[in-house]
Amino acid sequence: MSEENGGLRPEPEEIPVEAEEAAAVQGHREELLERAGAVEVGGPGDYLLLAKDMVAGYVPGVNILNGCTLTLTEGEVVAIIGPNGAGKSTLIKTIFGLIPVREGSLTLRGVSIAGLAAHNLVERGVGYVPQTRNVFPSLTIEENLQMGAFLRPRTFGERFAVVSELFPLLGKRRRAKAGSLSGGERQMVAMGRALMMDPSVLLLDEPTAGLSPIYQEEVFQRVKEVNSTGVSVIMVEQNARRCLQICDRGYVLDQGRNAYTGTGRDLLKDPNVIELYLGTLAKA
Ligand SMILES: Nc1ncnc2c1ncn2[C@@H]1O[C@H](COP(=O)(O)OP(=O)(O)OP(=O)(O)O)[C@@H](O)[C@H]1O
Ligand SMILES: [Mg+2]
Repeated sequence: MSEENGGLRPEPEEIPVEAEEAAAVQGHREELLERAGAVEVGGPGDYLLLAKDMVAGYVPGVNILNGCTLTLTEGEVVAIIGPNGAGKSTLIKTIFGLIPVREGSLTLRGVSIAGLAAHNLVERGVGYVPQTRNVFPSLTIEENLQMGAFLRPRTFGERFAVVSELFPLLGKRRRAKAGSLSGGERQMVAMGRALMMDPSVLLLDEPTAGLSPIYQEEVFQRVKEVNSTGVSVIMVEQNARRCLQICDRGYVLDQGRNAYTGTGRDLLKDPNVIELYLGTLAKA
């Protein structure tokens, strides 16, 4: 300890260690993001869904997605992880037509869906479960599911039978108000609602957020079951580690760009991904 600080403060060289580490991590991220955008993809015909170099944002002149690329192949579960504010929800919302695509392309089965409104996407087989406010609390479970089928009301009975087979709770408690359900049960209603139109692509935004570990696991299992019925899934997840275990491939987004892409298994053991993204995310 130096005379000057009377031993009350550590030596200057001891202080910067953490700051240095933080700067190194930040430098590492910046360096990585410099190389971002180099995700090699095939043509639109090669994928069920292809978002290529997408630029999008909410406010004119401010881009939140800065050239994001994501592919989905028939039958896959694809995870999107990344820090808060990385643009994960924005990416999902842009795919679902809630935010315009400013640059880049977006195709479903090789056909451009950029600029289509959300209800057109629903008609084309894309389902979406938002991160928040994803059920109508004052409506019953059945009424929530009716809302999901509003574009094809005549299919309600048939779809309700299919969906309540996947989520038995929805059939058993069909007259219960969604607002009376637990967070986990509401997620089931929200997913059930999105499945009423028999989508081929399901977009899920943080379906396990705020749920107890048991319910989180149940949601992951349900997602796998839904996937096994032929629905391809893109899911944003805060429980990154668990999500990477169950998904086929994952995308790490950072500052609106692709930071890492790979199979769930490869991302889980990638030292950079662990250091930069899984450490804090895993605790969430
Ligand atoms: N409706 C909005 N209007 C303007 N800016 C927005 C809006 N929604 C999000 N943003 C901004 O876009 C950026 C990305 O937000 P987004 O919600 O996509 O992040 P995220 O990765 O989903 O984060 P989280 O993990 O917290 O859900 C943030 O800087 C956020 O402030
Ligand atoms: Mg989000």
